[in-house]
Amino acid sequence: MLKIENVLDEAGVGKVRQIIDAGQWVDGNETSGHQSRLTKRNMQLKQGCDEAAEAGRIVLDALGNTPEFVAAALPLKVFPPLFNRYQGGEEFGAHVDNSIRRVAGTDFRIRSDLSCTLFLEPPEAYEGGELVVEDLFGEHRVKLSAGDMVLYPASSLHRVTPVTKGARTACFFWLQSMVRDDGEREQLYKLDCAIRSLSGEKGGTDPNVVELTNLYHNLMRRWADT
Ligand code: NI
Repeated sequence: MLKIENVLDEAGVGKVRQIIDAGQWVDGNETSGHQSRLTKRNMQLKQGCDEAAEAGRIVLDALGNTPEFVAAALPLKVFPPLFNRYQGGEEFGAHVDNSIRRVAGTDFRIRSDLSCTLFLEPPEAYEGGELVVEDLFGEHRVKLSAGDMVLYPASSLHRVTPVTKGARTACFFWLQSMVRDDGEREQLYKLDCAIRSLSGEKGGTDPNVVELTNLYHNLMRRWADT
């Protein structure tokens, strides 16, 4: 699980909110599978509408300019970002995300390796609305500043607690990584972080930096699909 701060700055969050708030919001079960439908209560910006496309482009551009995201996710295919809102006690009970996601009416589909949530509302503006992700080590509760995002394995059970005051607006989407295995992807990310740090200290032409970079790319050759 990885938190990334400031994917969008204040102006970026404001711009996205201005666009999506003016769009058409529908029952969040528009994109649900059979099992999710039983526990999901929220609203979503209508999938595929102009506002979703425009705001989605801003989010994807911002992600492309966020090296931490690229290094951690190693994205191959990204599902067009969706936007949701919880208020008045709405929640999303424990569920799993579908393994394969298809964009309705197209042949674009991805295997969901990672789930992403980008928060678009200051945490002090609402009560509840925590994203709770379960893994082997227990529950992780996440509620981030507007503009910050969290990446977590799409294979994990997760839920959003009831929003009892105010409204929680967020952008969410899935991606297929070039590296399918969470463990392999994590090793690559850690190696990448260490190389960047060492490179900052010693310079990019330091022999150890060059050798570790070579190792990084050789592991990518073993593990990555393109
Ligand atoms: Ni989910």
